[in-house]
Amino acid sequence: MKTLIKNAIVMLPDSTSRLSVLIEGTKIVDIDPAAQIAADNIVDAEGLHLLPGVIDDQVHFRDPGLTHKEDIYTASRACAKGGVTTFLEMPNTNPNTITQEALESKLELAAGKSLVNYGFYIGATPDNTNVLKQAHRTPGIKIFIGSSTGNLLVDEQEALERIFAESTLPVCAHCEDETTVRANTERFAGTTDITDHSRIRDHEAAIIATRRAIDLAKRHQHRFHVLHVSTGAETPLLADHDNLITAEVCPHHLFFNVDDYARLGSFVQMNPSIKNKEDNVQLWQALLDGLIQVVATDHAPHTLEEKRQPYPKSPSGLPAVENSLALMLNQVHQGRCTIEQVVQWMCDAPARVWDIVDKGRIAVGYDADLVLVDLDKTAVVRNEEQETKSKWSPWHGESLTGWPVRTWVMGHEVFRDGAFDESRRGSEANYDHARGGYWATR
Ligand code: DOR
Repeated sequence: MKTLIKNAIVMLPDSTSRLSVLIEGTKIVDIDPAAQIAADNIVDAEGLHLLPGVIDDQVHFRDPGLTHKEDIYTASRACAKGGVTTFLEMPNTNPNTITQEALESKLELAAGKSLVNYGFYIGATPDNTNVLKQAHRTPGIKIFIGSSTGNLLVDEQEALERIFAESTLPVCAHCEDETTVRANTERFAGTTDITDHSRIRDHEAAIIATRRAIDLAKRHQHRFHVLHVSTGAETPLLADHDNLITAEVCPHHLFFNVDDYARLGSFVQMNPSIKNKEDNVQLWQALLDGLIQVVATDHAPHTLEEKRQPYPKSPSGLPAVENSLALMLNQVHQGRCTIEQVVQWMCDAPARVWDIVDKGRIAVGYDADLVLVDLDKTAVVRNEEQETKSKWSPWHGESLTGWPVRTWVMGHEVFRDGAFDESRRGSEANYDHARGGYWATR
């Protein structure tokens, strides 16, 4: 089966050109083929941009165990709609993904449910280093250096040293200092004021933990990725590490700050907390400067009922996979960055950070994970139109310009103008050691 996507403005690794892309099976087999090339399926993409599919390297899909909030099927529909063709999911499910068996069973679950490519991190505990040392079919190890949703936590120095010294998989971490957060929680004991969330999970908590983790990574020369950087003050810590250390920022830390609690309350409650307007500015600058390489969502759905509980009963986290690309394309529309930068941050960089071969770029031989976007399309985010099972978005009511309109996963069109093709749902997990890749394919 051959598909020819004609006349798109194609985001190639080093250039942007109006040309055609030929897909055969699961692969991109030709770029700018001869005009008369035969194909079973011709897509006229005049006026649209063709991007590599987005790789979201931090999501929480709640499956297994918390599927009243989300499951891999509903979340993968949200991904397909949002132009996300690969997700890497976090271990704080129930049970936690802290054994190879739990990881295998998640892969199996996703094989039956997901419309898009997937990978699952293995979670660190104070005493599962032996598991981490032998873990496979996973992009890497996730450490909660500070606790968040769920009970995963490793904050004793000895345990952290052991993980960094003895494991070989890349490590990523949630960096908020547990001691600081606990002390602040005591200070604000009894509060019901949502704005205290950013005083409890304050700047210091983030800075201390990020500094601590970077120190571990440097001393042990261990590949390390800082998840969801939330303060401007962390960004200088990310400089000059020769690719040993990489970092990620989320749309909510770029676009929300403490002033938004008044309007959105617990809908913008997450960990790390949102910070100040200056942090928005500094994080954006760090992204432009290359100190932060990746934009990902930390998609963390909770039901509206759960979120509407009074603080601090309200849980932390917000859904975002179906809007992240549009949020960033809207920045292109506003002239704050280029579409090339968005592709770099959301497609190419996560593939390099997690060593995902044949993904993240439009090139011959690469997987046909593709998204067509309409940079002129304006639409309002609406709770009732969200695919996430949680059925809400903190961006509800916001008008964004620049939207994904069609999505291909491994050569198969899974989303087109609001409709899904689920005929290839259910896929086989795939870990290709020879290529050094680890994702699962459809
Ligand atoms: O706000 C958050 N929610 N931050 C996290 O790190 C975890 C997430 C969740 O799983 O709910």
